[in-house]
Amino acid sequence: MVTGRPVLEGIKTLLWIFFIAALVIGLGRFFFGLGAATNMTDQLPWGFWKVFNMVAGAALATSGFVVAAIIYIFQMEKYKSVARFSILVGFLGYGSSLVALLFDIGLPHRGWHPFFMWNPHSFLFEVFWCVSIYWFVTAFELLPLITERFPFPKFTHFIHEVMLPAVILGITLSTMHHSSLGSLFMVSPTRLHPLWYSLWIPPEFFISAMGAGLSVIVLLQIIMSWLYKQEINMKVLTGLVKGSAGFLLLYLVIKVADFTVNDKWNFVFGPDITWETYLFWVESLLQVIIPLAIFLYPKTRNSIEGLIFGTTSAFIGIVMHRLNTGIVGYFRSAESVYVPNFSELLLGLGLICGAGLVFLFLLERFYIFKEPVSHGDHHDSSDIELWSSAEAQTVFLGSRAKKVGIIAVIVIPITWFFFRDQATGPFQPIVQPVEASIIGVDPLREVLRIDGNLANEFVDFPHKKHQEAFIKEYGMIAEETCVECHHLNLPNDNASNCRLCHSDMQLKTAIFDPDAHIQHFRADPEFDIEAFMKTDLSDRRKGFEACFDCHEENMKGLAAYAVKGFDQEAPGFKDVMHGSCQTCHRQREEDRAKADDNSNCLFCHKINP
Ligand code: HEC
Ligand code: HEC
Ligand code: HEC
Ligand code: HEC
Ligand code: HEC
Repeated sequence: MVTGRPVLEGIKTLLWIFFIAALVIGLGRFFFGLGAATNMTDQLPWGFWKVFNMVAGAALATSGFVVAAIIYIFQMEKYKSVARFSILVGFLGYGSSLVALLFDIGLPHRGWHPFFMWNPHSFLFEVFWCVSIYWFVTAFELLPLITERFPFPKFTHFIHEVMLPAVILGITLSTMHHSSLGSLFMVSPTRLHPLWYSLWIPPEFFISAMGAGLSVIVLLQIIMSWLYKQEINMKVLTGLVKGSAGFLLLYLVIKVADFTVNDKWNFVFGPDITWETYLFWVESLLQVIIPLAIFLYPKTRNSIEGLIFGTTSAFIGIVMHRLNTGIVGYFRSAESVYVPNFSELLLGLGLICGAGLVFLFLLERFYIFKEPVSHGDHHDSSDIELWSSAEAQTVFLGSRAKKVGIIAVIVIPITWFFFRDQATGPFQPIVQPVEASIIGVDPLREVLRIDGNLANEFVDFPHKKHQEAFIKEYGMIAEETCVECHHLNLPNDNASNCRLCHSDMQLKTAIFDPDAHIQHFRADPEFDIEAFMKTDLSDRRKGFEACFDCHEENMKGLAAYAVKGFDQEAPGFKDVMHGSCQTCHRQREEDRAKADDNSNCLFCHKINP
């Protein structure tokens, strides 16, 4: 095994630089939050880490299960030489995707929730389960790497015995999550551009992932063999690209059928040509047409240059396809554009660089390029040596540590400087006032149509029916029912519109207007305006007492806050609608039985045709 070549050391230095920078950004993201660390918005909430690292990353790392299937199910022994390599790529690819996801989700400390709190209606739930379990399966498939180096031949033998079921489990999980990753985008038929939206996304995702995954293995094999001066087995590589071509061809057929059946060619060849069309053309060229042209033609397929060119094209193409489906295809409907910022790019790439470092580390120390001469024989006299304590010293104490230390000292402050600059820059929460939207669906206004942001996505709320239900079910008199929802009202009103206080769709807004109050009492000699202005309203108790003094009688519902105090800030409209409607609905016995309906957004939400 050739190690220590200057190019190799150069590459490792680069990987360290990006990885350490990513660690800094990762820390910043936890301290300052997603708003500071990313350019995501409520309109475009799917950013680089989710789509590039997870959705595209999973496609790139598909190799593990495809190659495992070729070897263990179809028994094509010649591919055994790339088995470990491919499974390792799968293991590290999925591992880094999962880590990226941890940075992407809003509350990463709840990342473990899906394991225990199931939501089987959600595609994300399925994706999470399949991806994480699949990751453990790849880890298991790699176990022989370690055990064969130690004198437990029985254990290694046992792992080889149960490999087939593990491979089958891995294949099932892979099939499921690749198609579910596609299904994620099916929930937005009105938002995703028709060039990428389709009811056929699940099979399209699955098949394109297999095509790309095989190409990526070939590309990585060529690069790594060159770096470590290993022999390239052209027969195996051309076999793999033939497989890749098969999947890409199938993908092409499905796409053509999809565009024909669903009548979408107008977006490709006109008359509905927009900038998306050109993007789609570049994507298709890179993802399918160029690789197919190269892989199907024996002369180009059998040359290293051809392989490099074709697989690189397939690689860039699939990333483009996933980014277009997950991000760019939403620009038009969101009426805004999302471009990942400096820290998103750095963290996204840096995590992959981290995985790359682990990859090189393992390549140099374990039998990845080939299997050892005999299973369980730890005295194998090959050129790969088990990690010696002397080497451990050079890594942790010696020259390697010194180099990494120097990189860290330089990279950390620079990255932090840029991150701080970006994080403390003008962060403007998007203000979305709630419009006066309530219209009666019927002349008597018994059903109210609530559409706070006039988005044409509304909730028809049976106002009257609720009042009647409370009278009937809880034996209330009509007037008592109001306060169940109208928990607090404006002075001299007994059922104020919620939006008069909850006046922004998302943000908290103050209900107390100091200027109006001061204006009102300036002329009143009996009122100590100075003392009133000194009240600390941020204190829930004191705030409550201040308001209660004057509004005890005329603000209905205020007294209910006597015990827990009172916040001057009314939460966003969406949150209180969900807080009020869903909380009550979940508590209701009958509704628990109908839980399906209640967790379903469409129980309340309707879209104008
Ligand atoms: C029990 C009824 C109910 C259920 C169930 C419900 N919502 Fe809502 N939601 C509302 C009401 C009422 C509003 C305010 C309507 C408006 O302003 O358009 C609202 C507003 C919203 C808004 C902001 C309004 C907009 O048009 O952008 C979003 C986003 C939203 N809901 C998402 C969801 C999602 C996602 C689910 C399912 C997980 C869900 N809701 C389930 C009642 C419900
Ligand atoms: C189940 C909850 C609930 C109950 C019970 C309830 N309301 Fe409402 N009410 C609402 C919601 C939600 C709105 C919409 C407010 C908004 O969008 O700002 C509303 C709106 C109203 C409006 C304005 C509607 C319009 O036509 O412009 C009035 C008036 C009103 N309620 C009176 C009452 C009275 C009187 C009672 C008691 C008899 C009552 N409500 C009981 C939830 C309720
Ligand atoms: C007079 C102003 C006002 C009106 C009108 C009003 N709210 Fe509120 N609401 C508030 C304030 C202030 C808070 C925060 C209270 C707190 O944190 O102690 C709040 C909190 C809430 C909460 C969170 C529950 C809690 O106690 O933390 C819900 C849910 C809610 N409102 C629903 C509604 C609904 C539904 C309506 C209309 C039917 C409505 N509100 C009308 C001022 C109002
Ligand atoms: C010194 C007496 C006094 C105190 C203290 C006081 N208010 Fe008022 N507030 C009034 C009067 C008077 C009005 C005018 C409306 C009326 O006729 O009641 C008013 C009006 C309001 C209105 C309606 C404004 C509108 O747009 O119609 C709100 C909401 C309100 N107060 C909230 C509060 C809150 C919250 C507090 C506690 C921080 C508070 N007030 C403290 C006397 C007071
Ligand atoms: C305090 C409890 C409570 C709150 C708050 C509440 N609901 Fe309900 N909801 C009920 C009850 C009880 C029923 C059953 C009424 C019936 O079928 O007669 C119901 C039924 C419904 C139905 C089905 C009506 C039908 O025709 O079958 C819808 C839709 C609904 N609620 C939406 C909402 C929305 C939207 C909100 C928030 C604005 C809301 N609910 C707030 C208790 C509540």
